[in-house]
Amino acid sequence: MTNAIEVSGLTKRFGEKTVVNDVSMSVAEGEIAGFLGPNGSGKTTTIRMMCGLLTPDEGEGQVLGFDLRKDGLKIKREVGYMTQRFSFYEDLSIEENLMFVARLYELKPAAQNVRDTLEDLGLTARRKQMAGTLSGGWKQRLALAACIMHKPKLLLLDEPTAGVDPKARREFWDEIHQRAADGLTVLVSTHYMDEAERCHRINYISYGRLLASGTVEEVVSNAGLTTFVVHGKNIAGLAEELRGREGISQVAPFGATLHVVGEDRAALETALADIRNRPGVEVNRGQTSLEDVFIEFMAHSTDNML
Ligand SMILES: Nc1ncnc2c1ncn2[C@@H]1O[C@H](COP(=O)(O)OP(=O)(O)OP(=O)(O)O)[C@@H](O)[C@H]1O
Ligand SMILES: [Mg+2]
Repeated sequence: MTNAIEVSGLTKRFGEKTVVNDVSMSVAEGEIAGFLGPNGSGKTTTIRMMCGLLTPDEGEGQVLGFDLRKDGLKIKREVGYMTQRFSFYEDLSIEENLMFVARLYELKPAAQNVRDTLEDLGLTARRKQMAGTLSGGWKQRLALAACIMHKPKLLLLDEPTAGVDPKARREFWDEIHQRAADGLTVLVSTHYMDEAERCHRINYISYGRLLASGTVEEVVSNAGLTTFVVHGKNIAGLAEELRGREGISQVAPFGATLHVVGEDRAALETALADIRNRPGVEVNRGQTSLEDVFIEFMAHSTDNML
């Protein structure tokens, strides 16, 4: 299998700060790869290096077979990049914005390309509406239209669904999956756990360092965490009691239950021993979630930005 993205040792510094630190990553053709990590961890910076907009201080790589350092222009033509912030003209209509983009890419005939894209993304009826008056979901649709109009082989989507309602998010993901089935490769950054679970593979970055890559199952099982679910009456009181105990790294209320997570099973069991025997309290083994794993990662990585 060939890789659409293959980068190694990518490093970027801004002044004294190393915001991307020795990141190596690969994304296979046709794969939907998730890119996750806390705010300021370097996702956008990494994506910008991958699409040739930012030159890495160290490291190298290929994107769609082009050299990251030498072929920035070619990469930009072949890649669809959806920026984190809406970056279209608010006082132009959907159609006018797309016309502008079609001309940037020198698509010919421009009007036909715009018409096809409007139709493809269900934007035809709204084509005259000013971009600035669109709701979040429609703005996102316009942004997606603009980045796929030139038929890229790779999409780099930077938090494409932030602030978009659940229905529009689902439609967006259905759209992405359909296109991936046709061979499109997608790297998508997100803070949503449900979206991470819709990716073929995920990559987790924290403070510039890539901490984990793999399928959701692999990332969860490699983290080696144990989770217990506690049922009982006074959940808030139990949480208070358990927090900070040796062997317990996370205590989180989930509805009427408490999720208690630890790195060492034996130590966790010891920490829960007295609670376990208490009348009215039930302690059962639970599934460790991706969110548990990410919170654990965050707790362990040091913020080099402070
Ligand atoms: N042009 C720049 N000059 C100086 N610092 C920058 C620049 N661009 C980004 N940074 C810093 O680099 C770090 C990583 O930023 P980046 O935007 O890549 O993170 P991110 O993972 O995309 O975060 P978020 O989830 O909030 O979008 C941050 O500390 C940010 O302030
Ligand atoms: Mg970002």
